Amino acid sequence: MVKLNELIPELSVSDINISLDFYINILSFKIVYQRKDDKFALISLNDSQIMIEETNGNWETGTLSYPFGRGVNFQIAVDDAYKLYKNIKKQNYKIKIEMQENWYEADNVMIGQKEFLIMDPDGYLLRFAEDLREKECPRYISSCILKEFKLKNGQTLVLRKPIVEDAKMIVEYLYTVGGESDNLLFGKDESYFTAEMEIEHIKNINESETSSMVLGIINNNIVSIAQISSPNRKRIAHNSEVAISVKKDYWKNGIGSCIMEELIKSVKDGGIIKNISLGVKASNKNAIAMYEKFGFEKIGKHKDFFNINGDFDDEILMDLYI
Ligand SMILES: CC(C)(COP(=O)(O)OP(=O)(O)OC[C@H]1O[C@@H](n2cnc3c(N)ncnc32)[C@H](O)[C@@H]1OP(=O)(O)O)[C@@H](O)C(=O)NCCC(=O)NCCS
Repeated sequence: MVKLNELIPELSVSDINISLDFYINILSFKIVYQRKDDKFALISLNDSQIMIEETNGNWETGTLSYPFGRGVNFQIAVDDAYKLYKNIKKQNYKIKIEMQENWYEADNVMIGQKEFLIMDPDGYLLRFAEDLREKECPRYISSCILKEFKLKNGQTLVLRKPIVEDAKMIVEYLYTVGGESDNLLFGKDESYFTAEMEIEHIKNINESETSSMVLGIINNNIVSIAQISSPNRKRIAHNSEVAISVKKDYWKNGIGSCIMEELIKSVKDGGIIKNISLGVKASNKNAIAMYEKFGFEKIGKHKDFFNINGDFDDEILMDLYI
């Protein structure tokens, strides 16, 4: 049973045999089926399908003269554009537009294609494109910047929302900060996030109305990450939890305060969250002092919550009511 694509261009050609020779022998299309008497064939290359039929006067909307199909080009996806390009060159077939890498803006991303164009024997323009995946659009990256701060030490701290291209750097950051103090929920090399998981996480958090992640960046390196997350359930969606860390080399420069201030501001602007909660190791005096500076109150504790290589410590629970 032949599965026909939802959209199949049908090309009126001047000589079915010349066209079949071109599509099959030069471009490696396959014949799906043909009706020799009608001088018609359905041909395919991977998931692309084209119908070709020798002109017979039916369904003609005007005079056909070379080059046919003016104003249209057919994009055909291929796995390896360069391999096909080389084959075509070897057969001395003329390339209309040489192989090039192009990036096209689509919403927040740039879609990349390695592509070249040729004209078929009747002049129909064919564009062979290899997918180069996606990258973030520069305009989108600048729209993710929330704020820039001059720090006490003169460096500029950029606060921005994460983009998927940060995923690898975020994972490396988490591995590093896990080993720099005993104050997080994970130790050295214990962050279980992979870059793929992080990409999904970034996409989800950037779409969320109530959760957000803020990166602190100095000279294109992540030096701090903070995140507010709240549950999806409507009855408790106004409660959130915050997590924050700063790379040890950058402590006591005001970075934690900048990022915390930005998160609290975003929560207030959002208007949904009424409570920010957190848990902090009882011996983490610096963090507790920072939270109290921003108005967090101690509301209880989990006894012996942390087990750092056999040393137990309480978790202090703190809330900030918005
Ligand atoms: C806690 C942490 C985020 C603070 O980041 P930071 O960039 O050093 O914070 P800041 O420089 O903005 O300081 C913020 C406040 O924290 C307190 N603080 C920070 N370091 C301190 C120190 N060595 N001694 C006393 N208070 C300190 C102060 O209240 C300070 O405010 P102030 O400068 O106005 O006095 C950072 O130390 C860190 O990442 N620690 C490891 C991970 C961690 O503990 N995360 C929190 C888990 S709950």
